[in-house]
Parts: sequence; C-alpha cells; structure tokens
Amino acid sequence: MACPKSDPTPEWTPDRSITIRRGTLDDTREAFDVSMAAVEELFMRQGVAWTLDPDAFYTGLEPLLTHFATHAAEWWVAEDRTDGSLVGYARSIERGGLLELSEFFVRPGRQSAGLGRRLLERAFPPGRGEVRAIVALTDVRALAHYYKAGTVARFPIADLTGTPSASAAESEAARSLAGLEVVSAGLDFVAEFAAIEEAVVGYPRHGEYPLLFEHRAALLFRRDGRAVGFAFVGVDGTGPIAALERDDQVPILLEVETWATAHGVSSLSFELPMINEVAMRHLLGRGFKIEPPLSIFMSNKPFGQFDRFILFSPPFVF
Ligand SMILES: CC(C)(COP(=O)(O)OP(=O)(O)OC[C@H]1O[C@@H](n2cnc3c(N)ncnc32)[C@H](O)[C@@H]1OP(=O)(O)O)[C@@H](O)C(=O)NCCC(=O)NCCS
Repeated sequence: MACPKSDPTPEWTPDRSITIRRGTLDDTREAFDVSMAAVEELFMRQGVAWTLDPDAFYTGLEPLLTHFATHAAEWWVAEDRTDGSLVGYARSIERGGLLELSEFFVRPGRQSAGLGRRLLERAFPPGRGEVRAIVALTDVRALAHYYKAGTVARFPIADLTGTPSASAAESEAARSLAGLEVVSAGLDFVAEFAAIEEAVVGYPRHGEYPLLFEHRAALLFRRDGRAVGFAFVGVDGTGPIAALERDDQVPILLEVETWATAHGVSSLSFELPMINEVAMRHLLGRGFKIEPPLSIFMSNKPFGQFDRFILFSPPFVF
C-alpha cells in the first residue's frame, strides 16, 4: 500500500544529488531510522544518555507510524539519488483546523545544509492551520525554524517516568473520595472522549481514536453519570489523558498507575505540560522522576487548557 498522494514531479534541491519527494508507506522504516540517528546524535550533543533499543521501539510504534504514513496532512522526504537512501523527512497531521508537525529530522552529517528548511516549508506550509502546533525537541536549528514557521514557545514539557506501584484499593479510595466512577471503554464510547477532548484542547482526534482504542486501554471517568475525564494507557505508552476539572487528574492518574501495575509495566512514562501543576506535583510526590531532556510546546496562538491535559507518549504529537 502506498501513500495516497503521489508526486510525479519531485523537486530538486540546489545540491543535485538530493531530491525532495512525497513520502510513501514503503519509506516508513527508513524514515524511522533517520529519526533515531538524528535524536541519538542530538542527545549526545546535549549530554543526555541514549538507552533506547530502536528495534524494540519500532515494534511498539509501527501501528502509529503506519497511521501517520497513510493519513499525514503532508509528508516529504529527502532522498540521496546517488544511492537511494533517505537523508531527512518532515511530516504533519491535521485534526480539523489544527495542523501539527509530527516529525522533522535530517540525518547527522547532512544537517545544516538547508535540507531541513526545504522539508519544513512543504510539510508545515505557512498559513495552513487555524492552530499550528509542535512538540519540539530543543535542537537550536529546529527551534529557529519553528519561530520562522509562526509558532512561539508556550510551555516546557517534562517526561515523568517511574515504576508503577499503585494498588486497586488505593485508586478505588481516591475515586470514591472524588465521586468518580470508571468504565473500561470501547470505541462505542468515542463520542464522550471526543466531547472531553474538544472541551479541554479544542481538537478531538477523530482520525486517531480507532488506533488508540485498538492499542491502548481506554478509561472513561464519570461523575453523577456525566463523563468528566479519560485516560489511554498501554504497555508501550500513555495518553492522551484529559479532565474537565484539574483536581480529577489525581484519581485518574492513580487509576492509570494501577492499570500499569496490574499489567506488569515496569516503567511508566507521562508527557506532562509543566504548567499542569496538579499532575506534576502528584507524580513527583509518588516518586516519578523528570527524565531529560525537556521539550517545548509551540503554537502560533494560545489555545487549550493544558493544566488538565497530559500529552500522547511517546512524544510525536500532543
Ligand atoms: C532540526 C533539523 C531537522 C534541521 O534540519 P537542517 O537541515 O539541519 O536545517 P537547515 O540547514 O535547513 O537550517 C538550519 C537553520 O538553523 C539556523 N541556525 C543554526 N544555528 C542556529 C542557532 N544557534 N540559533 C538560531 N538559528 C540557528 C541556520 O541559520 C539555518 O537557518 P536558515 O535556514 O534561515 O539559514 C536537523 O538539524 C535535525 O535533525 N536535528 C536533530 C533532530 C531534531 O531536533 N529534530 C527536531 C525534532 S522536533
């Protein structure tokens, strides 16, 4: 299966050995390898330990990357025509009026030569998207490009990682204190998830819910019969997690932790907007640690209530 959009006339960069064309599903693994090489080198430059096993990571990510490959708003790759290898790519997704950059990578050794600029102007075109958002790593060239693309830093994002230890009794006590019921939900509950996400961040991820419900447990929280929060959790990641009331994040996070304990997850991570005071204090209080590096949430305008929202992890899109 190929990406639905084909590009019969790929563009040549001034360096005639590089062609820029639309990505296809067949580029998925090679693009992932470019991203791993670029992030590993960035971590090395920033003095951050690199502990990831790319093959194991790819296995968990494949459904998401396949989804991006087939549903991207824009996906452009840079190919070295001398050997057909991929040297960079940029991709975005769209949710209604939201355009979000999901990936932007150039292979080390090919960076700082203008390739990133050419990829980004195609994958994140100026003027497209009522809201334009990026979960940004702190590579200085990436940040400079994102300001040129009209976005501004809004808040830092912290990866909070810990060993889950909450028990069912603990989370049940927190839920009953807050007057919350929890339902293990299927796709037939999707309208309630979408209504909460719309209220909290403005852009429900209709295209991504089927994937989330298939690969993660979906927990819906109700008070007096009304849906007030939700959480997705799986063995390979958490999020998104949202609550109409900030304080409800405490029982919601305990429930997620209990799910992880019960499913033998040894390391549980959350991508937290650092302005989400309730969740930051709760997780730090439970012994979760901030794993470097921080990333930065950027957008062209303020939107959403990120003090009651936890991002999708691993961090590609919010
Ligand atoms: C970010 C990345 C994709 C950019 O691609 P690239 O091909 O290296 O970038 P380019 O050569 O097109 O552009 C670099 C720009 O940064 C600018 N720049 C370089 N150092 C800078 C600094 N310290 N401050 C501000 N701008 C700087 C350059 O002037 C250039 O701008 P210009 O296009 O206006 O001339 C690439 O460097 C990369 O893969 N980095 C590691 C992974 C990463 O962080 N990806 C972003 C994920 S959110």
